[in-house]
Parts: sequence; C-alpha cells; structure tokens
Amino acid sequence: MAIRNLRLEGDEILKKKSREVEKIDERILTLIDDMIETMHKYNGVGLAAVQVGILKRIIVIDLYDGNGPIAMINPVIIKTKGEVEVEEGCLSFPNKFAKVKRPEQVTADFLDLEGNTIRVKAKDLLAQAICHEVDHLNGEVFVDKMIPGTLEYVESEEDEK
Ligand code: NI
Repeated sequence: MAIRNLRLEGDEILKKKSREVEKIDERILTLIDDMIETMHKYNGVGLAAVQVGILKRIIVIDLYDGNGPIAMINPVIIKTKGEVEVEEGCLSFPNKFAKVKRPEQVTADFLDLEGNTIRVKAKDLLAQAICHEVDHLNGEVFVDKMIPGTLEYVESEEDEK
C-alpha cells in the first residue's frame, strides 16, 4: 500500500469525466488499497480515483463508524429521495467548506472487489458521501454547487506552524 499524491483545486483533471472499470485486476485492487490509505492519511470521509490522478470510476468511503472503509466500483445512483442542506468539504479543497443541497436518501448500484453488483440504500452522511464522490467521477466538485455565500475558509493547525 502507498499514499498517493492528492490532486488539488486548480488541477484540470478534477473537471474530467472518469471512465468505467472494465476489469477488476491487480492494478485496480492496488489502486483501491492506496486510495483507502490516502483517505485515512488525510482523515477524509471519501475519495474518488480522479483525486489521485486516475480517471476511473472508483470511490472509497469511510464514515469511521466501525463499519470500515467501503470501495465502490462503477457506482451509479439510481434513485434519490428528499433534499437536505449539508456542510461539505473535500480533500482536494483543503480548508474550504460550504453548504450544498444533497438528497436525503440515495439508492446506488456498484461493483464490489469481486465484481458482484451490490445495491445500497443510504441516508444521511453515507448518502451525502456517495453523491459527493460520484460527482467527482463526472468532473463536478462541491464548490460548483455550493449555496452562494456559504463558503468558509478554515485554517488548519498545520497552516499556523
Ligand atoms: Ni471531494
């Protein structure tokens, strides 16, 4: 496993659309391991492959709720319900937070590491994370859809050193 370099705000790759994974091979599994390690290193709740420079439709999510990280290959949101205003950040936009509107619930299909199709019904933070990460796969980032006037810049402790 290895930490991969994060692609940050201003990097044009973040605006590109990712391609479907056709075959889940060793390279894909290594990429997923690295994505999980990178997400954990930066205390992220989610990470899309494009954020480490790979235009493939893979996302990883960890809510730190004891259920461990989950990897979703070729995720597709097939149904949404409701709408909530939520605060959001992104590892590619360090220290930036803003409010966005997200569905309250989503139903999504994805492939697991063995290539099985899994259907997940998610709500709250998991629903929000799936939507945020699937947006990345379509070249969309949260600051593009933030509610005007809600952008906040929060300095991290590292900046103060
Ligand atoms: Ni993000």
